[in-house]
Parts: sequence; structure tokens; C-alpha cells
Amino acid sequence: MPDFRIKQHPILPIPEREEIEFFWEGQKYSAYKGETIASALFAHGIRVFGHHVKDHAPQGIFCANGQCSQCMVLADGKPVKSCMDLVTPGMQVQPSDGLPVLPKVSRAPSTKQVREIPVPVLIIGGGPAGISAAIELGKRGVQVILIDDKNRLGGKLVLQTHRFFGSSKAVYAGKRGIDIATRLEKEVRTQSSVEIWLQSTALAVFSDQKVGVLKNGQEYVLLVPQVLLVATGARERFLAFKGNTLPGVYGAGAFQTLVNRDLVRPAEKLFIVGGGNVGLIAGYHALQAGIGVVGLAEALPECGGYKVHKDKLVRMGVPIYTSHTILSANGADRVESVTIAQVDGKFRAIPGTEQSFECDSVLIAVGLNPVNEFYLKAQEFGLKVFAAGDAQEIAEASAAMFSGKIKGMEICQALGMDVGEIPNAWYETEVILKSRPGENHKEVLPELEGGGVMPIMHCTQEIPCDPCTSLCARGLIFIDKTDIRQVPTFIGHSTSCTDCERCISGCPGLAITIMDTRTNPDMPIISIPYEFTREVIQQHDVVVVEDTEGHELGALEVVNVHGRAFSDRTSIVQVQAPKAYARQIAGIRVQEPTITRALDHYVEHITDDTIICRCERVTAGEIRELIRQGYRDMNELKIVTRAGMGACGAKTCNTMIHRLFQEQGIPMGQVADHTKRPIFIEVPISVFAGADPKTDGDQ
Ligand code: FES
Repeated sequence: MPDFRIKQHPILPIPEREEIEFFWEGQKYSAYKGETIASALFAHGIRVFGHHVKDHAPQGIFCANGQCSQCMVLADGKPVKSCMDLVTPGMQVQPSDGLPVLPKVSRAPSTKQVREIPVPVLIIGGGPAGISAAIELGKRGVQVILIDDKNRLGGKLVLQTHRFFGSSKAVYAGKRGIDIATRLEKEVRTQSSVEIWLQSTALAVFSDQKVGVLKNGQEYVLLVPQVLLVATGARERFLAFKGNTLPGVYGAGAFQTLVNRDLVRPAEKLFIVGGGNVGLIAGYHALQAGIGVVGLAEALPECGGYKVHKDKLVRMGVPIYTSHTILSANGADRVESVTIAQVDGKFRAIPGTEQSFECDSVLIAVGLNPVNEFYLKAQEFGLKVFAAGDAQEIAEASAAMFSGKIKGMEICQALGMDVGEIPNAWYETEVILKSRPGENHKEVLPELEGGGVMPIMHCTQEIPCDPCTSLCARGLIFIDKTDIRQVPTFIGHSTSCTDCERCISGCPGLAITIMDTRTNPDMPIISIPYEFTREVIQQHDVVVVEDTEGHELGALEVVNVHGRAFSDRTSIVQVQAPKAYARQIAGIRVQEPTITRALDHYVEHITDDTIICRCERVTAGEIRELIRQGYRDMNELKIVTRAGMGACGAKTCNTMIHRLFQEQGIPMGQVADHTKRPIFIEVPISVFAGADPKTDGDQ
């Protein structure tokens, strides 16, 4: 039986887990207790979870976050989202082929009085922003209920194996996301006034200012908060291209969930679309999990993410195709290849530039939208409401933490508490942490004459990040503390650096190396940070070294591989390099160029199956035609085509329909948006009458 579990990882521990058995289409499979149905299926290479009722197209997961409803299966006869529901011993899971036949109703569901629970503060979302706010409120004794729909706190932090950027003073910069999640969880759990409800989903905000919550997936309750904080994070944007609904086309977050949270390998060869931080980081995570990254396409002339993230990828052997777009994902019932093309100044594909690559997965990382529907509805209904983190504004997780902290204080003020003025410096830090990458400077490589040792900074772009300054015990790395977006500078000299290796092992961008000419000035030792399984590189191996931009410099023998007590899973690989290019070495290639080669022909996708509404299988062509006919109301489009009427509640298609209007030259001011209903998550209707969706079979 194929096994797609990750058994070894350079950063993540592989825990001992209890095995259970479940059934897929009547055949017995193993799973781990506490994992989702989707991950249990992926662990056995099952990626098609059903077929759409309208065109019988194969369906699998897309978001792995409960947002898109593409992963529906029948679990013990009931339709469930397999990315959210946990597999249980003996569970009978069937694909969702066409419309599910619901279990027969032999009795009315048992209903009961729905509990109303007043609470001073309700926080929806247990990610970095929500937890940080809860900690501030808890410190001041405010009663809080913090809810999250997952079975652990941390939000997207639990998917991040890399070290975080930002300010080491304000937001744990330099620590790994997974470890920040653990720290935050520990801290919030010490606050006695903060009650935490996991696997609890906010369903609706009502006009009487009550919030409907399905507690523990079992009991529907109405929370009556004095103040609501929405910290629900972001959802990924979908993209219109041919073959975009094939199983194997995933959102970047889904991929990270499967790989880093659930430790399953959803791909062998991956192509990434989108060069923002999310796409770049996902590529790095794929390589760490032993997955080949065939390439990354970005429509803009430059990647929008941090340059250090991009540099890491190219050094490891991932080609980046800027000014390129995806034309199609190709394959019959799963992704078999991808076709990209260069774009002109108006982002139109240039004929004759098409290239295809063999891959089994395409990862979409073209941006995020705030999950802000609860915030907008609460505002409309006059509830005192705040938003924090990505639900307020899309930015890095470090900014989300800080924005949560500020919101915690603002909520205290809104409750009439005397907490004093919120320092202006906090707001200034928030602005800095949210800032986009700034100017990129020319790389300046220091001379090192005679015997000595010094760090070489390969970090050239202005981004909010400062851990290197506090890592150097001698204070030899400088960034002006009033604005941590500056590029760091080494202010010591060849005899002041002690070669402690703290800076190279702690830099989140892996953008520092150390050059040591003490034993042989003509063949210096270069120390390089390395975050892959150490067994992959050992002493005496020959490695290809590259410069910051991924240009190959030479093949060198490894003289030493080691870790340090403080280096926290970052290994240090040392090579002895000719003086001529030693300073330029910034990293080691980790994947062979063969994996990235284009096919000798391009795969033309002739079916016009560019899907805009995944749930109802409405194509871009159908919507464009109606726009040309004069339709300007999203509700009318919905009535005519059913676009936006499906299970996801228009969460995936809405922005793409907006884009089609813009493409046709229609200003958004002329377009009436979808009417937003108060209920945002689909549940059996009997839940609102107090029925337990887990145990009450007849609904
Ligand atoms: S993949 Fe499960 S809801 Fe999107």
C-alpha cells in the first residue's frame, strides 16, 4: 500500500501516534487518531474525494481550512468536510459522487433550548492576533471567551517551520512559527479569566447582536458579548486558469497544512504560482519535506515577497519565472503537468513563450483576502466590534501578534477600564511590522585581508527584521533601532568577531555566512546555514555552492557539518573555498537541476474549463458573456448562473468575479455586490434548534 507519510523532517518532530482503522469505499486503511479524514486519505495516496454533480469532474481538497467545501466526503453516511472532520475508528468513508443521498429521516431531531451566554469579550480566532489580544485582556482580568475551529491554538503559526522576521523585542522574531505558537498558547492558558473553546465554529452574527457558535462541534450556543474581536485571519485567493479545479491544484495554506501539521506528502513534484512570501515560503517547506519544486511563476517583474526568501529558493535550485503566468494545469483526473507563458506589460500571455513542466501538483499563492464577514456584519448590526491581524489587514504574522496586543488594550478602553494611554510607539511598531519590502541595495561583500574571521551579510533589502543585532553578543551587527527596516551592517573587523556562529544560525533569511581565513587565507573556510536533514549532507560530500542570486560558483568538499546548542535545528555546513569566490558563497543547492527541466513540447489545454465558481462549476466564459450583455449585479449573476450559490458561500469566487468585471473595463463602483447573509458557515438547519449534529442522526 503506498505510504505518503513524512517520516523524517529537519525541523518537525515525528510524534508517536495511536493508529486506528477506517474504511474508504469499503477497504480498510490505517489512520492516526486525531487526524483529519483528508490527511488520512492523502497518507494513502487518495486525492480524488468525489465527482461533481454537474459535470462529473473529479474533486479533492483546495483550502484544507474549511473554506471552499471541495473536500466533501460521506462519513458514516453524512456529508462532511474531510479537511475539518477527524477520522474515527471504524468510520466508513465514501466519495461524494454527485449529490449525497441523506440518511432517511425516521424521527424529528431532538431539540432543546439554546443556551445564551453573556460574556464581556468574545474573540473569534485563536491565531497570533486572537491569542495576543486574549493575553493582554487576561493580564487585566477581563473575562474572555476565545474560540477557534481547529483542535489546537496557533492559527497559521502551527504550519510555519521557519524563523520569523520582525522585531525580536516586540514579537519573538528569530523564533520559528511552530515554537511561537507553543509559547503563545502556554501564555494564554495561564490567564485564568480566558476561557478557550477549541473545535468551536462561529456560524453567524445576528441582528440582536448575538453570535451563534457551535461549541466543540456539538452544542449550538448564543454568545452575547459586550465587545467582539474578529481575528479570523485570511483566506487564499483562487485563480482563473484552465484546469484550475483538478485535484492537485492546492492553495498554499492547504499544502502547508498537509505537510507541516499533518506530516503527509501531498506531492512529489510541485509547481508554485505566486512569488509573495506565502508562495516562496511554501516552496522552502516543500524542499524541507523532500518534495521537488519544479519552478515558481510570478506575473510581476519582481517577486513581491522578501528577497531573502526568494534568494533561499533560487540558491536551493528552484528556478523563478518572473513576468510569467500560468496558462493551464493539465491532466485527466489529476495534475500531470503545468503550462506557463511570459506576459507583456498588461499581463497578457505572449504567444510563442509557452513552456510546460511535468509536475503532480500546482500550488496557488496569489494573495490573501481578509476573513472579515463577521466583522462587517457585526458592524452593520451595531455590535461593538474590532478586527485584528489579517482579518483587519493582510500582513506578516509578527504584525498580527502586535495588532492583537494593541486591540486587547483598545478593548479594555472600550469596556471603560482605566488602562492609561496606549503608547504611540506601539502604533509605530505596528506600522513598521506591516510594511512591505523596501529598497534593495547592491550587495557589498567585505574584503578580508590577512588572517581573521567575519560574518558576510547577504541581506540587502529593507525589511522589518532585526534578530541578527541581538544575536551578536559583542554588538557588532548594527541596525538603527528606531527603524528596524534598515539593512544590517557588520561594524567590527577581522579580529573582533569570535566566530560564535550565533548570527548565521539565527538569521531568519539564512542570509549570513562566516568567512574564516585564519588557517589558510587563500582557501578560507565558509560556514553556511543549512536547514535540511543533516544526514543529507555529511563531511567529505561534494556540494554545489551558489551566490545570493543562485548562480553556481563551484563544487566543493564539505569539511564539517555541525549544530550548536543554541542553533535550534539549523545546521552549519563548512566548505573550504578558493579566495576568488569564497565571499560570494551564500548557500548550497539542494535539488538537482533535472527536476526543473521543461518538457520538450508545451502541453496545450484546449478545453475551455476555466472555472470561476468551483461549487457550481460556472466558467469564466459564462460570466463574461453576461457582463457583456450588461449585467452589473452579482446577485443577478448568481440567479442566472448559480455562481456564488454553492456550499462555500461565494468565498472563493467572489473576488474572481470582481476581476472579470475589471477585465471588461467595468468600474467596481458600478457593480452591486452579493448580499451578505448573517450565517457564514454551512451547518444542518436543526443545529439552530439545539440538535447535536454529531449524535442526532435524523436531521
Ligand atoms: S478543502 Fe476542505 S473546505 Fe476547502
